[in-house]
Amino acid sequence: MSPLDFTIEELDELIHTAIDISENPAKYAHACEGRILATCFYEPSTRTRLSFESAMLRLGGKTLGFASADSSSAAKGESVSDTISVISSYADICAMRHPKEGAPLVASAHAGIPVINAGDGGHQHPTQTLTDLLTIHTLKGEISNLTIGLCGDLKFGRTVHSLINALVRYENIRFILISPEELRVPDYIRDMLVEKNIDFKEVEKLEESMSELDILYMTRVQRERFFNEEDYLRMKDFYVLDKAKMELAKENMLVLHPLPRVNEISVEVDADPRAAYFRQAKNGVYIRMALILKLLEITV
Ligand code: CP
Repeated sequence: MSPLDFTIEELDELIHTAIDISENPAKYAHACEGRILATCFYEPSTRTRLSFESAMLRLGGKTLGFASADSSSAAKGESVSDTISVISSYADICAMRHPKEGAPLVASAHAGIPVINAGDGGHQHPTQTLTDLLTIHTLKGEISNLTIGLCGDLKFGRTVHSLINALVRYENIRFILISPEELRVPDYIRDMLVEKNIDFKEVEKLEESMSELDILYMTRVQRERFFNEEDYLRMKDFYVLDKAKMELAKENMLVLHPLPRVNEISVEVDADPRAAYFRQAKNGVYIRMALILKLLEITV
């Protein structure tokens, strides 16, 4: 499952279901009774795995799964396709995170159940994007006519790749891609922006762009994707969003971050009403509830 598997109308429908769930949770409390979600996480996670599990539990369903490759038979050499073939008879739907790009896609080809990509290497993170779209919709009132700054590790940050892929489908979105030279977006993202004639620029200094932004999407430098620790240490504190930089921003600019945060947003920013990243994480449960209902073809 990728955001691009859905039409704009389907994305709107998911967002509206998520909003209805947040306002009327009791209406959905038994929707998935008798259904099981498997969470197959070959990489660490807090938000994605637990919000998927929370989503299924809040829908009245049950969950099973593993939280690391080491605690599954992957440690004995089992392939993803064999694992998902087996899990297809244990669960009705699966959320999979894997360090290899494309692994959830391979799994879905061997699965008898829907397999949701919960993050594949440095490639994509579609359900984070759904969370981001819901957050932008609820806090900005629309997902259009926005200048969006994406800042940090744009090379390995899969949330950025998925979000750009989804946002190019909305009207009048302009991107400011803020990163050090070494951590710029991959060529396939830049080529896609050029091909679709999307307004974007690539810059290095965060301060110089702050006043233009409607949304600042901060990202962590992805230590786990670096080939050597030295490069990571050189890059890790390249950007630190603090109170002084927030003073350069519009009064209604939103700060988003998929989390986890390391040093790239100072904790002093948390008290700023424009800091929306914890509200964003909460939205992850509602949108994943809506997604589970859609993929299991359950109407409430
Ligand atoms: N945003 C996100 O994917 O967080 P986790 O790695 O904790 O799941």
